[in-house]
Amino acid sequence: MASTRGAAEVLVASNRGPVSYVVGDSPGAGSIETKRGGGGLVSALSVVDDKLWVCAALGDGDREAVRRGVAEPGVRMLDIDPAVHADAYNGIANSVLWFVHHMLYQTPLEPSFDPEFRRQWASYEAYNRAFAEALAEEAAPGATVVVQDYHLALVPGMLRALRDDLRIGHFSHTPWAPVDYFRMLPDDIAEQLLNGMLGADRLAFLTRRWADAFTECCTRILGGTSGTRIGVHGLGADADFLRERSRAADVEERLAALREQVGPGRKVIVRVDRTELSKNIVRGLRAYELLLETQPEWREKVVHVAFAYPSRQDLAVYRAYTEEVSRVAEAINSRFGTAGWTPVVLHVKDDFARSLAAYRLADVALVNPVRDGMNLVAKEVPVVSDDGCVLVLSREAGAYEELGEDALVVNPYDVSGTSAALGAALGMAEGERAERTKRLAAAGTALPPGQWFLDQLTALRDS
Ligand code: G6P
Repeated sequence: MASTRGAAEVLVASNRGPVSYVVGDSPGAGSIETKRGGGGLVSALSVVDDKLWVCAALGDGDREAVRRGVAEPGVRMLDIDPAVHADAYNGIANSVLWFVHHMLYQTPLEPSFDPEFRRQWASYEAYNRAFAEALAEEAAPGATVVVQDYHLALVPGMLRALRDDLRIGHFSHTPWAPVDYFRMLPDDIAEQLLNGMLGADRLAFLTRRWADAFTECCTRILGGTSGTRIGVHGLGADADFLRERSRAADVEERLAALREQVGPGRKVIVRVDRTELSKNIVRGLRAYELLLETQPEWREKVVHVAFAYPSRQDLAVYRAYTEEVSRVAEAINSRFGTAGWTPVVLHVKDDFARSLAAYRLADVALVNPVRDGMNLVAKEVPVVSDDGCVLVLSREAGAYEELGEDALVVNPYDVSGTSAALGAALGMAEGERAERTKRLAAAGTALPPGQWFLDQLTALRDS
């Protein structure tokens, strides 16, 4: 057992932390600039004052900050060997575990669990161990630890072995793979992952569907869940924050610019995503193209505002997908565009204020992932849209469980079906659209981020 006992009562562990550091390029010492992340987890965790957030140093700036001891209060960044981190994060977490849970493999050729995979797996174990050791060191006796996501699936078991006095939880922000797909993993790896997670007192998921898939994996592969509790917490959007933030001056400015780009009197179909394989951006563009082809009355009358922000560009398959998104958008514009009308307005530079401006403008929100843990965009747009919007939603998004009744639901692989849904959405009567938007906004904000996190802490302490 670890001899050190830290002081933190609530600890959170995730690959990406709430801050990152950039070293200024001024000569000499070089100043360090702190950048604060604005993700859902950051706002969720802000409800607990006294906590320690353990995360990985991700870039050179982070590593330099760790070396110089530029510590943000409440954050401990782990300076894990860059090669080990790259193997664990790009190699295993994002290229294997993410692919398994989102069912992204082209199965005739991949995956192949060769010696290179085994080598990377050893790094994944080392990276998880670094987190477990840091948490064991920092946690006060009987403290509560909440581990986040597939990057850190082995941490609960490793931490349990070091500190059996702790309350350990794990939250999955992704879907969980159906058992037949999960079993593509080598048997020993599948067992190690499940046992690693079952080291927690309580595991939590975004929807019942993902929780059930996990339980089914444990039943079929291990014969049961060994007494670990399993819960569901459907993270919602933060209505107060969104309503206020979306009225700020920078959003108004971007709204005016977007209106100008769209042109007067036109309807707007909005999508906002990371450029992520599972988000199905290319089929979304094809569905829009098919709409323009088969329902020519919409030409010149509608614009597809598509924001596809850079993601995981270290991986070749993400770079290729990013290029494909631009290529298809350009092809639609050269096929249908006219002097006064650009059918697709694609932006690839991340800009939160501009995303909110697009939400306000949306007549239709397109959320068509092939598979998605939740998808918060589906919950955010109805809250923010100025005139109410129709949600075209994939039945494979976690959000479908809560929003399906008031959305137009699509099979994300079916381009014709998605195209028809876009047409129906654009043509929906005002009254129905307003009613649906009201219900979508209520359902989508039922469990705001702070409450979502507090519920987990309570359930974990009572488990
Ligand atoms: C998903 C994962 C998160 C991850 C995010 C962005 O939402 O569940 O854990 O942080 O994608 O991915 P990135 O690797 O860029 O942080």
